[in-house]
Amino acid sequence: MIIRCPPFTIHHYPTIGSTQDELKRLVGAPEFTCVTADEQTAGRGRRARAWLSTPGDGLYLSVLLRPALPPELFPLVSLMAAVAVAEAVTGQGAAPVDIKWPNDVLVGERKLSGILVEGASGVAGAARVILGIGVNLNHRGFPAELAATATSLALVTGRAADPAACRDEVLSRLARWYEVLGRDAGAVRARWAELSSYARGAEVAVTLDGRRVVGVTDGITEAGALRLRTPGGEVRTVLAGEVSRLRKSGDA
Ligand code: BTN
Repeated sequence: MIIRCPPFTIHHYPTIGSTQDELKRLVGAPEFTCVTADEQTAGRGRRARAWLSTPGDGLYLSVLLRPALPPELFPLVSLMAAVAVAEAVTGQGAAPVDIKWPNDVLVGERKLSGILVEGASGVAGAARVILGIGVNLNHRGFPAELAATATSLALVTGRAADPAACRDEVLSRLARWYEVLGRDAGAVRARWAELSSYARGAEVAVTLDGRRVVGVTDGITEAGALRLRTPGGEVRTVLAGEVSRLRKSGDA
């Protein structure tokens, strides 16, 4: 089924392996082509993890973008998407919403949404990305391995989420923030920092070059990398990796 949701054209499937893979198969598709599904049988997340994609329980969405950015700023696409999703789920009643660097959308330190940005081969050198967004909507519980770390919109609001309304709100915020990203990347960085308690002053641990490094976050770079001030006073730049909070600054 094709759904028009300007500027997006959505190809919707009842069931699919992964919306990311289906979009990669739509060779030559224009920017803003979007694939959604009620269920994914091979949904995947970052670091080759599976993404729980049971029927009707989540928003499973991938969109093809061709960012008008120098390639070194492409990492900002994932921060921009987190801003869009954080605002959208807030609009759907989730609170208080946080963003864990770079792009996990959390409520009460539990993950409500995950974002996966993958490269797609461009036509005539045009750089394209496939932005994948998963939002937990109607799960009433999670498998044991996720039970302590995941949540859903239904669990945080106490009422069933409307998948079409959530999709439309995510896409409308995405269209807005993607347009801002193309003309004023600083505004995206600023909004990300406003929404993320991890942006500054968070005591975190991260694995860098195979070693666990602890430090206090000190903003993001122009390209969206996380700056981490170590106990020795050195500032490390984290380009990729899993950040975990040790405790909030100022906690007893
Ligand atoms: C993460 O690990 O946090 C990223 C999760 C991304 C999941 C979404 S669901 C839609 C799209 N299709 C996939 O197979 N993965 C992404």
